[in-house]
Amino acid sequence: MWDDLEAHAARVKGRSIAALFDENPRRAAEFSVEVDGMLFDYSKTQLDEQVRGALCALVQDADVAARRDMMFDGHPINETEGRAVLHTALRDPDGGPVLVDGQDVRPGIRDGLKRMETLATEIRGSAVRDVVNIGIGGSDLGPAMAVRALAPYHDGPRCHFVSNVDGADITDTLASCDPETTLFIVASKTFTTIETMTNARTARDWMEKAGVDPTARLVALSSDLGKAREFGVPEDRVLGFGDWVGGRYSMWGPIGLSLMIAIGPDRFRAFLRGGHAMDRHFRTAEPQANMPIMLALVGMWHAQVLGYETRAVLPYDDRLARLPAYLQQLEMESNGKSVAMDGTPLQIGSGPIVWGEPGTNGQHAFYQLIHQGTRIVPCEFMVAARGHEPALQNHHALLVANCLAQSEALMRGRSLNEARAKVAGKFDGEELERQARHRVFPGNRPSTTLIYPRLDPETLGRIIALYEHRVFVEGVILGINSFDQWGVELGKELATTLGPMVTGEACVEGKDGSTAQLLDFVHKTGRT
Ligand code: F6P
Repeated sequence: MWDDLEAHAARVKGRSIAALFDENPRRAAEFSVEVDGMLFDYSKTQLDEQVRGALCALVQDADVAARRDMMFDGHPINETEGRAVLHTALRDPDGGPVLVDGQDVRPGIRDGLKRMETLATEIRGSAVRDVVNIGIGGSDLGPAMAVRALAPYHDGPRCHFVSNVDGADITDTLASCDPETTLFIVASKTFTTIETMTNARTARDWMEKAGVDPTARLVALSSDLGKAREFGVPEDRVLGFGDWVGGRYSMWGPIGLSLMIAIGPDRFRAFLRGGHAMDRHFRTAEPQANMPIMLALVGMWHAQVLGYETRAVLPYDDRLARLPAYLQQLEMESNGKSVAMDGTPLQIGSGPIVWGEPGTNGQHAFYQLIHQGTRIVPCEFMVAARGHEPALQNHHALLVANCLAQSEALMRGRSLNEARAKVAGKFDGEELERQARHRVFPGNRPSTTLIYPRLDPETLGRIIALYEHRVFVEGVILGINSFDQWGVELGKELATTLGPMVTGEACVEGKDGSTAQLLDFVHKTGRT
């Protein structure tokens, strides 16, 4: 399979992407997928019918359909942790039974959603002015991204997110909050994460110092109800969820409480509906017409076949500013692995490095490298056809124009002759030649564009579910477990032993020369 794709890579090497549009006037439509008014255009890549056929063969070979059905049906496909993977059930509360260890989890999902709605409605109608979500990783990135994305739909209290154990984060956040009118959500699946528990204790102290009873101002979201209660959160303020919800897939349930408080239960339900609509599409569409599958395959063509090490996510949607960070966890924590499900070394490169920033800001920062650097960075553009600011349509037109211009520029480039023509009036002779060379754009650089009507709650739900399923498809084809994250453990363990060495409570021993030197520096200069 992979050999076949390598042969295609050699066949298409250096071929002009722009010329493919001249050869086939229907190329744009034929190399796009449209679902529920959202269009994914991957025609500005080297994919042709043969490449697509070979990529789709990967889907058959890995039996993605069977694995997908196992996920939706509650089988323990997270094999290293022996867990089901059922975030999809959270966005379909009224679906049929789905069994985990013989128990139907759907009634609990419905009940959990109702409890969330009751609590969110109570908080929205109370004197609470500021809500601070304390969590990290999946207990922060999803809701933080979505709360920002859906700012035009906010009609609840202000939401803030504290994640970093750096005391600067909570200090700066609380500077604008009043203890009398602030509510804290401690969001942690395990309720043991050191950053979250440290910040939660600081928040509790902050309330106590102000004479406010913390029990009245704390909500907990966790799979470990006992630990949440032990921390002092009253039982009716603890929202639980099963271990079949992975941290980075958890914003569809209680971890999404801050989003629900910000936009209200009805719009949160619209967000769930959007995610569920993408699930239905993913489960029923043929590979070539299946948006998550094609998004995954185009990504694999670039990363695993052509060997491009990174991919840039470039939302021309300022409210999606946190999307690249959210996708970094989703994609890199899920598919950044070098061992296959059966414990053998992976025979092919794992998921790529994901990074990005909103456009147009990135254009004035790192696009230089994307256009003229020696590395090829496949770019994933995103843009809404309509904005939320009717009075500022000129802004939106410029935003869209810039987004489309970038993918066009990456593909077309600028030849040496065109560059010479650009500088012809200003220079001549050798200097003209030298100056022209700096203005050449190699072009033929691949990009895709996802365009959607408007970033409303339902559309955001679709987009997030689209990316989740992309990660799933890539993981199944790579043969890895996308639902564990053992790679985060070692650093956590070492930090635990280093903590007392930093404070001086333990002697520095068993450390390499560099670490010992850094500790010494802290001891000499870090005491305030
Ligand atoms: O350290 C990684 C991780 O386990 C993520 O997978 C998770 O989203 C994050 O930490 C936070 O975990 P928790 O919700 O249990 O605090």
